[in-house]
Amino acid sequence: MKLAPSVLAADLADLKPCLRLLEETACDYVHFDVMDGHFVPNLTYGVPLIKDARKHSSLPFDVHLMVTDPAYYIGQLASLDVQILSFHIEAVRFAPRLIRLIREHGMRPSVALNPQTPLTEIEHILPLVGNVLVMSVDPGFAGQDFIEQVYAKIESLAAFRDEHELVFTIQVDGGVNAGNADELAELGVDIVVAGKAFFSCDDPRGFASRVQSLSR
Ligand code: DX5
Ligand code: ZN
Repeated sequence: MKLAPSVLAADLADLKPCLRLLEETACDYVHFDVMDGHFVPNLTYGVPLIKDARKHSSLPFDVHLMVTDPAYYIGQLASLDVQILSFHIEAVRFAPRLIRLIREHGMRPSVALNPQTPLTEIEHILPLVGNVLVMSVDPGFAGQDFIEQVYAKIESLAAFRDEHELVFTIQVDGGVNAGNADELAELGVDIVVAGKAFFSCDDPRGFASRVQSLSR
């Protein structure tokens, strides 16, 4: 699997060494959690921080928008070498149009869904997206416990992908750690986000290479 550490769990007032650590440990993406205080209760950061982070990282960026108006961010993020751009299905009314816009701006469109949102809400757009971000905690904060019921959703999503010969990647975000990474890989997950498990462990390099060695 690929690893996308979430800088939300890093020291936001001292991001440079954290970004360096991600490069040194050969992580695959830098995951940015943009929260607007409306879609989720927490408020984090927006484009200015991501823009400054770009100066200190050559890794691909993976931006997770937990905001009520994702369209507002598309143009601004396109110029920052953002590879994956996730919006939440619960926030939008015209998903196919938004997906097209993200693609036109050169980014991989990704749909995110909360633990309580069923897969049926996104089935119609699965042929259009390049990635599905399955939330395994209620979005808003790093350091929460993985919601075990989400395993069944991941399994169904991987089965749907096989059955319909679709090509999107599956990303899991929230409470991922060394204890559940094996099972996620076996279910067919391609990318995991890790906040606390990466930034609070004694051996981030070991954690990264272990996650990256796992596959179905
Ligand atoms: C939660 C965010 C996650 C979070 C991951 O709303 O989307 O990306 O920062 O942190 P951990 O791995 O600590 O749950
Ligand atoms: Zn996230």
